[in-house]
Amino acid sequence: VGKHGRERDRCGPPRGGIYAPGKRIEELEGELGSRCVIKLASNENPFGPSPKAVAAVSAVIAGMHRYPDSAASSLTQALAKQHRVEPERILVANGSIELIELALRAFVRPGDEAVMARQTFPMYRLMTEAAGGRAVTVDLRESMHDLPAMAAAVTAKTRVVFVANPNNPTGTVILRAEWTAFVSALRDRRVLLIADGAYAEFVDHPEFPRSMAECDVPSARVVNLRTFSKLYGLAGLRVGYAIGPPQVIEAMGRLRQPFSVSLLAQVGALAALDDHDHVQRTLDNNRTGLRAISAGALALGMTVVPSCASFVMVRVGEARAVYEQLLKRGVIVRQSEPYGFPEYLRLSIGLPGENDRLLSALGAVL
Ligand SMILES: Cc1ncc(COP(=O)(O)O)c(C=O)c1O
Repeated sequence: VGKHGRERDRCGPPRGGIYAPGKRIEELEGELGSRCVIKLASNENPFGPSPKAVAAVSAVIAGMHRYPDSAASSLTQALAKQHRVEPERILVANGSIELIELALRAFVRPGDEAVMARQTFPMYRLMTEAAGGRAVTVDLRESMHDLPAMAAAVTAKTRVVFVANPNNPTGTVILRAEWTAFVSALRDRRVLLIADGAYAEFVDHPEFPRSMAECDVPSARVVNLRTFSKLYGLAGLRVGYAIGPPQVIEAMGRLRQPFSVSLLAQVGALAALDDHDHVQRTLDNNRTGLRAISAGALALGMTVVPSCASFVMVRVGEARAVYEQLLKRGVIVRQSEPYGFPEYLRLSIGLPGENDRLLSALGAVL
C-alpha cells in the first residue's frame, strides 16, 4: 500500500515535554458555534461505553462516599480468569499510563536507559525522562518496529524496553514468530520488556500473539499492558491492567497510590468485561470501518499505512493545514507529528456515518 515503506523516517523525534491530548468536542463546538462536531482522534469507542458498565456504575453511584477496594480484588480475579493466570500476576491501575509510570519508577534510576521506537506512543519517552532516565529511540523500518535494531540498542544501562503491539500511531503489528525471537533475544539481559497491547483486542490476524501463554519464554521478564479505554469504551473512567511476573507486579504495586482505581472504575470495568454484545459490535464495526476508511483514503490518492488497530494513519502532506481545514468542517482527527510523522494524520475508526463524513471532508479539503 502506497510508498510509505521507502520514506523511512524522515520523521524527527517528537518535540516538547508535555503530552498533547486530542482536541475536545465541546471545545470545537464552542469555537464553531455548532453542535455537529465529530471526533475521530483519540481512538475512543464510537458506540460509547458498554451499556452494562453504565448500568453497573449507575447502580453504585450512591455509594461513592466509601473508599474503593484498594486491591480491586473482584476485577483482578475476573481478569485472572479471563487470561488464565494467577491473580498475583495482575495489577489494575488508573489507566495503562499509570502502569507505564509505575514500571519506570520501579526499575529506572537517573542515568538508566529505556529503549523504544522513535515513532510510537509519546508517553514512553516522556515518562522515562520524568523518571530521570534516558530514552534511547530506534527508527521504525517500513512503518514497523525494527526489533533486531531495538535488541541491538540494549546496553548494560538498559532497564526497560517498550513495544506497542499494535503500534500507535501506525497500527502495524508484530507477529508471533518475530515477537518470540525478540523475547528470546532479551531473555538473558537484565531488562523489563513492556508489551503495550492497548489495541491488541482489535487485531484480526491469525499470527498475532494473542494470549500471554502463547509466547511465554521461560525466565523472560515481560509485562503486558491492557486498557479498558478503547475496546470497552471506558477512557473517561481510567482503568488499565498489567500482567507480568509476580515479583515485577509486586514491585510496581508497592508504588501505586492506594485507591488509584476509583469505585466507579472498578465496577464499570468489571461489567464491561462481561458485555460480549458491546465487544462484538465494536469489533465488527471496526473491521468494516477500517476497510472503508483505508479504501476511501487510498481512493483519494493518499498513502495509507496498513493498520490492524482501531485507527489508520494516512499521509496528507501538509498535515497541519489539512487538520485545520477539517476542524473548520467540524471533524477532529489527530495530527501524527507528535508521534514522529509530520506529514500524516491518524484517523480513528468511527460509526459508518462518521467515517463517510470524514472521507467526504478529506476529499473536499484535499
Ligand atoms: C499505545 C497506547 N498505550 C496506552 C494508552 C493509554 O491508555 P490508558 O487510557 O489506559 O491510559 C494509549 C492511549 O492512547 C495508547 O495508544
